[in-house]
Amino acid sequence: MNRHLLSSADLSRDEIESILETAEQMHDIQRRDVKKLPTLRGRTIINLFFEDSTRTRSSFEIAGKWMSADTINVSGKGSSTSKGESLRDTVRTLTAMGVDCIVIRHQASGAAHQVAGWVDASVINAGDGTHEHPTQALLDAYTMRSRFGSLEGRHVVIVGDVAHSRVFRSNLITLHRLGARVTVVAPPTLMPAGVGAWSSVDGFTTSWDLDEVLYADDPPDAVMMLRVQRERMSGGFFPTEREYTVGYGMTRERFERLLGRNPDCLILHPGPMNRGLEISADAADAVGSSLVLDQVSSGVAVRMSVLYHLLAFGDEVAS
Ligand code: NCD
Repeated sequence: MNRHLLSSADLSRDEIESILETAEQMHDIQRRDVKKLPTLRGRTIINLFFEDSTRTRSSFEIAGKWMSADTINVSGKGSSTSKGESLRDTVRTLTAMGVDCIVIRHQASGAAHQVAGWVDASVINAGDGTHEHPTQALLDAYTMRSRFGSLEGRHVVIVGDVAHSRVFRSNLITLHRLGARVTVVAPPTLMPAGVGAWSSVDGFTTSWDLDEVLYADDPPDAVMMLRVQRERMSGGFFPTEREYTVGYGMTRERFERLLGRNPDCLILHPGPMNRGLEISADAADAVGSSLVLDQVSSGVAVRMSVLYHLLAFGDEVAS
């Protein structure tokens, strides 16, 4: 496997399966009283986050700690980049201390790729602008797989602010590699221009009509709601929030009708959620249907597995 994880496209189907299988072992460790493996003893991991994060940063930190790595967090706001230091100088300074892995989140698409070209350490992309977020796609696949057994032939609908979503881009690749069918739903203003012509991934369809997709003859097995990313928007992408919710939100009415068609349909959201805008509390908190907290819990196991694959592959997972 590659030394870095920059894009979901870096992983073959076999590599994805291998990561998900190891994540299952890691999930068992997560359920123990003493959550500690010696696997990454002596390794140092830096979480370098230039954008806000709750779950991604803390789950990488927990994952590293449970595997006995030394993990430290450096946030963009408190680092010397706010004094004008370039990203290149920042990462070269950090790796000069002997760091083995940089987990980076940055507002610029392509930042993780650039960093990988500047340092000897392994680089993990924890979200670069509107581009990719590969560990999120892995944890989403892990979470769905733990319910479905396999994603082969499953129909996954991804809904919302697709244009600004790195979660969407990574999911599209990973789900496709695992054999799922994907339908992408967004208002025309939040659908990436030319999405239909994306050649690296085929076999997905797009729609502007959520109800048509949800209540078609081929109802979805899972619906992934995406956050409306106001911080990446300039100007108006939809007339009012109310209109967005009516057209594209997982409202209580929509959710109930969806379960009427397929009682086993699962609801996902990568978080953070705008409750009442893209998802109602009824859907987000629906016991048995909502996987939102399972996604968070899987996030630690999947990140442990990714760290293991990049930094210790070939060594025993050890118990
Ligand atoms: C996502 C992100 O930051 O890309 N969140 C996450 O990592 N759990 C999605 C989002 O911000 O909407």
